[in-house]
Amino acid sequence: MELRYDGRVVVVTGAGRGLGREYALQFASRGASVVVNDLGGDMKGSGKSASYADDVVNEIRRAGGTAVANYDSVTEGEKIIDTAIKNFGRVDVVINNAGILRDRKFENITDNDWDTIHRVHVFGSFKVSKAAWSFMKKQRYGRIIMVTSAAGVYGNFGQANYSAAKLAVVGLCNTLAIEGGSLNIHSNTICPFAASRLTAKLPSEVMGKFKVEDIPPLVVYLCHESCQENGGLFEVGGGWISKLRWQRTNGVVIPNASAKTAPESVQQNWDKITDWQDATNPASTSAFFRSLTRYIAEELGEEDDKNNSINVVSKYSVGK
Ligand code: NAI
Repeated sequence: MELRYDGRVVVVTGAGRGLGREYALQFASRGASVVVNDLGGDMKGSGKSASYADDVVNEIRRAGGTAVANYDSVTEGEKIIDTAIKNFGRVDVVINNAGILRDRKFENITDNDWDTIHRVHVFGSFKVSKAAWSFMKKQRYGRIIMVTSAAGVYGNFGQANYSAAKLAVVGLCNTLAIEGGSLNIHSNTICPFAASRLTAKLPSEVMGKFKVEDIPPLVVYLCHESCQENGGLFEVGGGWISKLRWQRTNGVVIPNASAKTAPESVQQNWDKITDWQDATNPASTSAFFRSLTRYIAEELGEEDDKNNSINVVSKYSVGK
């Protein structure tokens, strides 16, 4: 059965070009009303132009779809969501796609480079998602996509500012997934790779194999009402899609961790601390606390109490 979006309102940021344009076209072709947001600046975040968003809106309308343009920066997320509400009365899906680069070696990154990158990627994703949140909460339905990068997940030479910002949106997504789960607001992160303005410096013979059209299928599925995935992180490119997760070694308890000789104990145990045999895949703060309390219980000669860790978490989860 075709995954349809009739009656749904989808906001795609940075939709005037590259990947964002593809998301907008795909959602519109499946019946969604789309807000095509794009500031239309250069890839370093300077300048603006309405023509990119307008072109995509015209393309959607020519194909019989429904779309409106918005030219605000994602840092003014309320205005973008306002466009959705004023034109279509609701917002069901937010794709936090807008992005820029200011690549420099770490030693050459200026405060301005750092802030500009963080404002667009992190603050922008926060602002747009937050503005949509109350509508999604009222509807008891919402789907949010964050966009990270291999540079964020693994690091990349010359991209310290971008790496930090791109991993920040994974953290944002993880908590939105927890807070939104019971409200049927699902948040997931994608890590795409495709030929666009941002990857134009990479060799064309390689990039020819990575088309922007290959990315929307994952996003269209993740945002559909039939999809229960929440809090996932997915790599996607060239037709390949996979899910990523954390892995943790079994670890070692250092006796007398506050003793003077504890650093030497760390050194002596390094092989065990970094041994991936018997590794596990923790997926929550409960899993983190469970491990801590398990080891403490073992140290004290007490039985492992799984509930204990959950008590620890709920005691400190006091945010309202
Ligand atoms: P692109 O440069 O082709 O498109 C980005 C769009 O975002 C542009 O049209 C630009 O005008 C818009 N934009 C920039 N700042 C904005 C702002 N403040 N407010 C509203 N719109 C703004 O780039 P591409 O490749 O399509 O990237 C899309 C997203 O995917 C970005 O977040 C990027 O970091 C991410 N990404 C892309 C990869 C790739 O292989 N192309 C790899 C990893 C991540």
